[in-house]
Amino acid sequence: MTQTLTILGLESSCDDTAAAVVRQTGDTPAEVLSSVVFGQTELHSAYGGVVPEIAARAHAEKLDICVIEALKEAGVTLKDLDAVAVTAGPGLIGGVMSGVMCAKGIAAATGLPLIGVNHLAGHALTPRLTDGIAFPYLMLLVSGGHCQYLIVRGPEDFTRLGGTIDDAPGEAFDKTARLLGLPQPGGPSVQAEAENGDPKRFRFPRPLLDRPDCNLSFSGLKTALMRMRDQIVAEKGGLTRQDRADLCAGFQAAVVDTLAEKTRRALRLYLDESPACPTVAVAGGVAANTAIRAALQDVCVEAGATFTAPPLRLCTDNAAMIAYAGLERFRSGARDGLDLTARPRWPLDQSSPALLGSGKKGAKA
Ligand code: KG4
Ligand code: ZN
Repeated sequence: MTQTLTILGLESSCDDTAAAVVRQTGDTPAEVLSSVVFGQTELHSAYGGVVPEIAARAHAEKLDICVIEALKEAGVTLKDLDAVAVTAGPGLIGGVMSGVMCAKGIAAATGLPLIGVNHLAGHALTPRLTDGIAFPYLMLLVSGGHCQYLIVRGPEDFTRLGGTIDDAPGEAFDKTARLLGLPQPGGPSVQAEAENGDPKRFRFPRPLLDRPDCNLSFSGLKTALMRMRDQIVAEKGGLTRQDRADLCAGFQAAVVDTLAEKTRRALRLYLDESPACPTVAVAGGVAANTAIRAALQDVCVEAGATFTAPPLRLCTDNAAMIAYAGLERFRSGARDGLDLTARPRWPLDQSSPALLGSGKKGAKA
């Protein structure tokens, strides 16, 4: 199997408009020829969250520019492509539709095969793109909109072991930053404050650790932080820099402990299957957090598993992961027609019961 495949990927399910070209020859490592991402942060900043209509309009305006840019950067033309892959869900429906329509337009005009990709599969398959890891592996997907443990067995074969029943961890970091007057996105600013704080001064809850499963919950943690903030303000008339740093450190320690313990449990379930080279991979924006990375690494060392985290630009939303997931689907013979539909909800593991959870960017899985 030495066929070379060159795939164009499109992503527009949330607040990043992205296009990328990925190439792979046979079993050799896949190559990201280009990965263009246009963020929309400034368009939504006045509203405290992503506004779906604004996002959809911005995607529709930027997608073709993004595609032209990605082809140019990759040094290819539409004629060099084997297929066009597009996020067909889950996500904000207006954005997903913009991407699907753009991809259909390219497919109809060029005759290229069309491949619909599940956005979560894009994240979950990224460690194969970046590190070429073999199936099966355990994946922790942690971002502003997602949080789940998956055993990834094949390009379309996922077993969900658990996930958040309410907020995603990135959402909790963002809300914490908002509560403490720190800039968005909250993850990096809370992490920076936490570095100067005492994680033991405030003891925040470690949600759901009393339950044996791999599910998580983060909304109570944010409420506990808000109560503590209000109590300090009532007692002292305001927060000092140290109070803020200690609140951030206490909050981050609770997230770290919770993710570490639930990862330990997910790993136990995965190791029960005796994988030849046990590997744990992480993806999503929250994977940028150094304390979380270090804790996950320790859990893996303890259990004799290898830990891998893709570079951040491929952990956060991008189209290279969509092109690559499309490439894997294409190789397995999958093709979609021009009747491909955009799906707001699309769980990766259809056989697991739905979790109650939804992220800041809408219910996703
Ligand atoms: O994957 P991503 O770019 O977008 C989606 O949510 O799909 O993740 C963004 C999230 C934000 O909530 C942001 O606050 C969080 O990732 N994040 C972090 C860090 N850097 C980004 N959370 C904790 N620590 C960080 N260093
Ligand atoms: Zn995502």
